[in-house]
Amino acid sequence: MQKFTGLCKPAALALLPLCGALSFMPATAQTPPPAAPVVKYDLTYDIISPVYAKNGMVATEQELATKVGVDILKKGGNAIDAGVAVGFALAVVLPNAGNIGGGGFMMIHDAKTGKNVALDFREMAPQRATRNMYLDDKGNVVPGRSLYTHLAVGVPGTVAGLTHALSKYGTMKLSQVIQPAIELAEKGYPVSPSLALILAAEREHLGQWDSSKAIFFKDGRPLQAGEMLVQKDLAKSMRLIAKQGAKAFYDGAIAKKIVAEMDKHGGLITADDLKNYKVVERVPVTGNYRGYEVMSMPPPSSGGVHIIQMMNILERYPLKQYGADSAQTIHLMAETMKLAYADRSEYLGDPDFTKVPVKGLTSRAYADELAKKINPDRATPSSEIKPGQPQPYESDQTTHFSVADKDGNLVATTYTLNLNFGSGIVATGTGITLNNEMDDFSAKPGVPNAFGLVGGDANAVGPYKRPLSSMSPTFVLKDGKPFLVTGSPGGSRIITTTLQEILNVIDHDMNVAEATITPRIHHQWAPDQLRVEKGLSADTIKILQDKGQKVSVQPSMGRTQTIQIKPDGFYGFSDPRNPDGRTIGF
Ligand code: GLY
Repeated sequence: MQKFTGLCKPAALALLPLCGALSFMPATAQTPPPAAPVVKYDLTYDIISPVYAKNGMVATEQELATKVGVDILKKGGNAIDAGVAVGFALAVVLPNAGNIGGGGFMMIHDAKTGKNVALDFREMAPQRATRNMYLDDKGNVVPGRSLYTHLAVGVPGTVAGLTHALSKYGTMKLSQVIQPAIELAEKGYPVSPSLALILAAEREHLGQWDSSKAIFFKDGRPLQAGEMLVQKDLAKSMRLIAKQGAKAFYDGAIAKKIVAEMDKHGGLITADDLKNYKVVERVPVTGNYRGYEVMSMPPPSSGGVHIIQMMNILERYPLKQYGADSAQTIHLMAETMKLAYADRSEYLGDPDFTKVPVKGLTSRAYADELAKKINPDRATPSSEIKPGQPQPYESDQTTHFSVADKDGNLVATTYTLNLNFGSGIVATGTGITLNNEMDDFSAKPGVPNAFGLVGGDANAVGPYKRPLSSMSPTFVLKDGKPFLVTGSPGGSRIITTTLQEILNVIDHDMNVAEATITPRIHHQWAPDQLRVEKGLSADTIKILQDKGQKVSVQPSMGRTQTIQIKPDGFYGFSDPRNPDGRTIGF
């Protein structure tokens, strides 16, 4: 990293000629006058700087949604008000991942009480869901059934989650925070080049359903960049929610339309399933890393457990000394990731149905045991493990946003439809795109899901069960005070992306912009493959290969939205891997 330090450091590079000129002044024979006090400029330039603001900050994957959140903060709303407004706005302006037909997790730090809450609004399997519902008569997984059919849809949790957060931790009325989303849906907005690319890629899935085509297609093809995306039905649904609250969605006009959609196409969700949907407030999973308190989402997410498990292992290595992009740091991270993801496949599932050994997985004693398996010089092959198929999981279909306000409240939310546009099915007459979160269950032990992840009994399909997730909205506290809010989309790579964002700040002294742009790596144990982003040097890759790592250079991984809280204000950064993302403060 390039830094300018010391005497005559320029406030701008334009000053450099002056420094040069001074050092070549001719000497005189006379006694020199007493030396003038030396002015030391203590300016340090980082390679890239985050956004700075004094009063509050919002980081999301879509500028229009970021603006909605910042407007709410400016009007006096707290981080939760802004977070809920952003959640509804993203359902309109990031329609491939933002949603009210999906589910997710929101971490909340309530400054007044100091309480940290992990809000679980993950989708639930319908009551009629069965363990083998994605298998054929021969016991083989039917391709696509858990992804692009009405059977793929879990009971959505987003509306219940956002309204719960607002009523318990917010200060504004639902009608106030949802209004900007209604207006964006009603008036429309121009499709960005990146959304146009996603729409084109999902043409086949969206094109199967008239209800989806009516919104996302024009003249028989997906909307293109610059064309307006207007969502009148979605605006109508949101207006109902604004008036009647979550009841409209779970036990009202919207519920009726969702059930009609299911009945018509062989889906399983019933009126009772919607009525029975429950938000759960869980206790965050916590750990300590080099003096920082880390807290993140507990099961049914695997994210928090494995971030802390990996930190417990990695803390014993001098990563700072090895360097951020060094082969040694990457090797140790990869070996650690393998161990964590191996445990994920065995032990993680919905804690309301399966005993998940969270304490053990996050204990330091267990980390000591696991660390003994790591050879710092050689990669341990995952050969005895059934390898996963390299799957088309190279895009980041979930979305994360972070909010921080001047009073110290924090919100970190990751929510999703699962894959881009979820099942591709819009429930007729609602404008609401339905998730395909059921694919996050393990359809059959050892058979990988869309993210190449394998699982077993703990994550088998079951009525009212929540599928295992990797979503990792995370806070880091220092001396009990907020320090970092972060998280990412990226399927199975969410956990490792979030881990690296934090390590880059804590271990490698990076600001959040640098921490974000640094090339990422990922290993998930099966398949036995170390994925690295473009940007890693050829000789680093060679050293990794010499250690036995099976390196595969991949397109970008993850898209973090991070805010760092310092005594002088907020420093945030939206991952440039998504050009539509924006961090704004005021
Ligand atoms: N659907 C991706 C996840 O929850 O991990």
